[in-house]
Amino acid sequence: MTLAQDEGTKRWDNNAEQWHRLFGENDLNRRDLLDPMILQILGDVKGKRILDAGCGDGYLCRKLARLGASITGVELSKKMLSFAVEEQKRDPLSISYHNADCSSLPFLTAFTFDIVVTNNVIQDLADYQGAFAEFSRLLKPGGTYLHIANHPCFMTPVWGWVRDEKGQRLHRKVDYYFNRGPFLCPWGPRSGMEPTVYWHRTLGDIINELLSCGFRIKRVIEPEPPEAWRTEHHERMDGARIPDFLVLVCDKIADKDQ
Ligand SMILES: C[S@@+](CC[C@H](N)C(=O)[O-])C[C@H]1O[C@@H](n2cnc3c(N)ncnc32)[C@H](O)[C@@H]1O
Repeated sequence: MTLAQDEGTKRWDNNAEQWHRLFGENDLNRRDLLDPMILQILGDVKGKRILDAGCGDGYLCRKLARLGASITGVELSKKMLSFAVEEQKRDPLSISYHNADCSSLPFLTAFTFDIVVTNNVIQDLADYQGAFAEFSRLLKPGGTYLHIANHPCFMTPVWGWVRDEKGQRLHRKVDYYFNRGPFLCPWGPRSGMEPTVYWHRTLGDIINELLSCGFRIKRVIEPEPPEAWRTEHHERMDGARIPDFLVLVCDKIADKDQ
């Protein structure tokens, strides 16, 4: 099996139904860690033109459109996108959806977006350099790129919790950090999702590529679990001893390689 973009997309097609069922408003990471942070960083989005690259089933597109933004959602998995399109028919909002690879978006015009968001997408795509170059091309000068991804320092080609004989987490195993490229990343056994193709890059690869595409990184966030998880979601608290996500808030200050 070749772990190329097509294989990744096929696996997202296969997982689409489960993803749509499991990762809605009540998902704890969305509800407590990521959504409030996204809304706080983006501020008032009314009238803003936003690209949600790798928009999945359109979850974030709908949230931002309801706040008055005009959204373009791009997604490569037809099955994931079908949930977005179905919802758009049922409850139309200011969103246009495209089945496309966000590393190549020739049908979108340069310098027309205020904001680009990738909400846990970059680790799922093969050509991150192409994607960053496209985001830089599409953003207006001074526009924002909000990069949210699995943390590349803690989710490496060999990773996972080492547990004692009772199943308690002892520590996190992280290895082969410099083995760049795709590997199969399992989901929890109860999720019913098949492993997805995850493209590992180092933190330096990601930061240096953003800089060469004309971005300035103005904030780095490693979301921490809220105190409430200690009592209400103890199991999650234990799993959140190290950060799952890396968030980079970037401004476009130049065109690629200027
Ligand atoms: C973890 S899901 C996140 C989906 C969505 N952003 C969300 O928050 O619900 C990753 C998504 O990225 C999409 N994806 C992967 N590679 C892509 C590419 N090259 N272009 C567009 N979408 C891609 C997958 O099909 C999948 O829907």
